[in-house]
Amino acid sequence: MKFYIQTLAIVLSLLTFPAPGAANPELLAEKSCDRCHWFASNKPGDGTNGPHLYFAGDKFQKAWLIKFLQKPEIIRKAGYIYDPGFLEKRPALDQPHPTVSEKEAKIIADYLALLKIPGLEHGAVDDVPLTRGKRARAKIKFERNYGCISCHEAINLAGKVRGGVSGPSLVNAGNRLTADWVYHWLKSPERFKPKSRMPVYKIEEADLVLIVKYLMTLKRENLKP
Ligand code: HEC
Ligand code: HEC
Repeated sequence: MKFYIQTLAIVLSLLTFPAPGAANPELLAEKSCDRCHWFASNKPGDGTNGPHLYFAGDKFQKAWLIKFLQKPEIIRKAGYIYDPGFLEKRPALDQPHPTVSEKEAKIIADYLALLKIPGLEHGAVDDVPLTRGKRARAKIKFERNYGCISCHEAINLAGKVRGGVSGPSLVNAGNRLTADWVYHWLKSPERFKPKSRMPVYKIEEADLVLIVKYLMTLKRENLKP
């Protein structure tokens, strides 16, 4: 009997032991990612050179992370500005964003997927795609009613990039961000960032869901040459 219990314990420990290299946070230190990013919310002082990643598991689609880490794209053309009171613009990135191998990108993405804000609710936005008519209405809200386009790049009817650059580009939002996170960002940005340079909107629920679904339709592959 004792033998069986011991064997069972060994089998169980093998099953639960993480595969070598999986979700390894040490790789982040090894690659100096923590020189520019926060991976925990209670770590004051550093990480002010890049966007916070302590809610990366809520914010990003994993497939996008794996691609970005190997071949970074520029998201904030005006540069990353940490302090909203900081008027002097920083350069977009005074050096190209570091890159990692495909294997490392997968390990890092596995780890980032675990970084979440406790208690963030899911499922406010269903994944039924917008009809053409609703999408057209959502686009008008994004561009005209709320003027989001003045600070954010999106895709126009001709399939071209259009919009301001003081906020992050949303051209690839449908591949990059999760609907849940965008919903919460628009509803209560202070849960992610105490001070942000984006105006806080009071958007009524139906419009909010419509706008989030519209952003999810924006994908780089929809751009026309
Ligand atoms: C020299 C500073 C620096 C280092 C080192 C660095 N990053 Fe970044 N990272 C940035 C900046 C700045 C951006 C924003 C780029 C943009 O918006 O175009 C960024 C963007 C990102 C994003 C997208 C975040 C978002 O909100 O758009 C991820 C994910 C990321 N970095 C992960 C990493 C990982 C993983 C490492 C280590 C392999 C790393 N970074 C190393 C500065 C850095
Ligand atoms: C006055 C300029 C401005 C307007 C108008 C504006 N935003 Fe933003 N937005 C920003 C800035 C700046 C950020 C980056 C905030 C930060 O990280 O502090 C941002 C961030 C975002 C993000 C998160 C992007 C990311 O990758 O982190 C989304 C999504 C977004 N805005 C959507 C919208 C929508 C939808 C509207 C209209 C309802 C809107 N924004 C209106 C400036 C603006």
